[in-house]
Parts: sequence; C-alpha cells; structure tokens
Amino acid sequence: MAAQLIVALDVPNAQDAERLVDQLYELDVILKIGLEALCAYPERIFSYCEARDARTFVDAKLHDIPRTVGAAVAALVRPTVQMINVHALGGLEMMRAAVEAASERAAELEIPAPHIFAVTLLTSIAAEDLNELGLQGGPGENAIRLAALARDAGCAGVVCSAHEVRDLKRFFGDDFLTLTPGIRPTGSAHGDQKRVTTPAEAVAAGSDYIVVGRPIVEASDPVAAAKAILEEMSVRA
Ligand code: C5P
Repeated sequence: MAAQLIVALDVPNAQDAERLVDQLYELDVILKIGLEALCAYPERIFSYCEARDARTFVDAKLHDIPRTVGAAVAALVRPTVQMINVHALGGLEMMRAAVEAASERAAELEIPAPHIFAVTLLTSIAAEDLNELGLQGGPGENAIRLAALARDAGCAGVVCSAHEVRDLKRFFGDDFLTLTPGIRPTGSAHGDQKRVTTPAEAVAAGSDYIVVGRPIVEASDPVAAAKAILEEMSVRA
C-alpha cells in the first residue's frame, strides 16, 4: 500500500474545520479528528464528514481503565471512521478492550471495523523527558516495547516517530502498520514537535500513514500545501 496522508483538522471552531473539510476531502487524504475537535464540536464534525463520505481517523488517544476505553471506542465507531487510537501506556488489557469493542460495535452496525492504533510515545516527548517520566531507555527502546504490547493486543499498528519506523518494521513485519506525526516539510516551523522528519524521509523509512497538521491547516493555501506534500510523498527519496 502506498503511504497515505492524514491531515489533522486542529482548529478551534467548527466553521474553520468545516471549511477545511470542504477544501480537502476530495484530495486523496484522510481527515484527522483530534482532541481539539472532539472536545469542542464533536457531533458537528462527525456529521459534516459523514455527509461528504470523508474518511476519518479519530485521534482520541484514549487512556483509561479497559471498560471505559471499550465503551468510548464503541461510541466512536461510525461508517466513515477508519481508525481510532489509544495510548499503549494504558496497557495490554486496555488495548484488547479497544480492539474487541471496535469489532463488536462494527459487527452490530454491519460496517467494517476501524483499525485500532496505539500511541507509543508522543512525538513531542524528547529523550530527556523520558527520564523525568520514569521510563527507562531511549525513545526507540520504549517504542519497540510498547509496540510489542500493541501487537499482542491485536492493534493494527502504532503511532510513532518516523525515526522508529525502520526498527518497528524489522521487528514486527510490514503488515504491522506505522502512523507517524511530527512531519515537517523542509523550511516549515517545528512548533512543539521535537522529533521531526520530512514527508519524503517518512515515506522512505516505510511509514504507512503520515500525519500533518499545522503546515497544512495554517498555510495560506491549505489545498496547495496538501498537494505539495502528496507530491513529495509520491517521489520516494
Ligand atoms: O501540527 P502538527 O503537524 O504538529 O500536528 C500533528 C498532529 O498529530 C496533532 O494533531 C497531534 O495531536 C497529533 N499527534 C502527535 N504525536 C503523536 C500522536 C498524534 O503529534 N504521537
């Protein structure tokens, strides 16, 4: 499968998010509904995407006891939702509950089950932050350990830094999917992302999905910015 571009609809109000959906949904992209949209205007953004049959990734980053996460995942299963994520640090049982809830709810609705992805480490976390959190080893080691748990729980793949994709593919094989945020086209601002990669580098490393937010949604022309990234992704480094 060629790598897919996911655009993060990280804007504070529904009108701006809807404008972005209208601009972007006909491109070959998946739209990411993240915490900002989920907390501020969930029903509006889901209905708007559903009316346009726009493929979505619900970046809910769920992390709670297994029953609660299972119930939340079940509530997020909808026809256009292709992916939902949880935090791997929530543990094996929590991730299993998410996977089971997604497949059970999808069966009830007679739709394909969304893939469950597990966040290994946030790309805003740098090596020095791990120590502070009490996590031993570097980002790479932590990502591999958490990815092994995610695979055992039945997750389709992990959210990780593009720097970790080669090792993850080596350990878990090509079918275990990788979804990488922290992507910055050359010359754009890093913001709070600490471990960044260009779109071409992420694709060359084997990333299956690359997530881009601010470089597209804050661009004066989001469509042109998205097209430029799609173009960069198709010209493999
Ligand atoms: O604007 P930017 O391209 O940095 O947006 C990245 C998006 O990916 C944000 O919506 C952020 O919540 C999300 N994300 C992330 N790091 C993770 C998981 C998700 O940056 N590990």
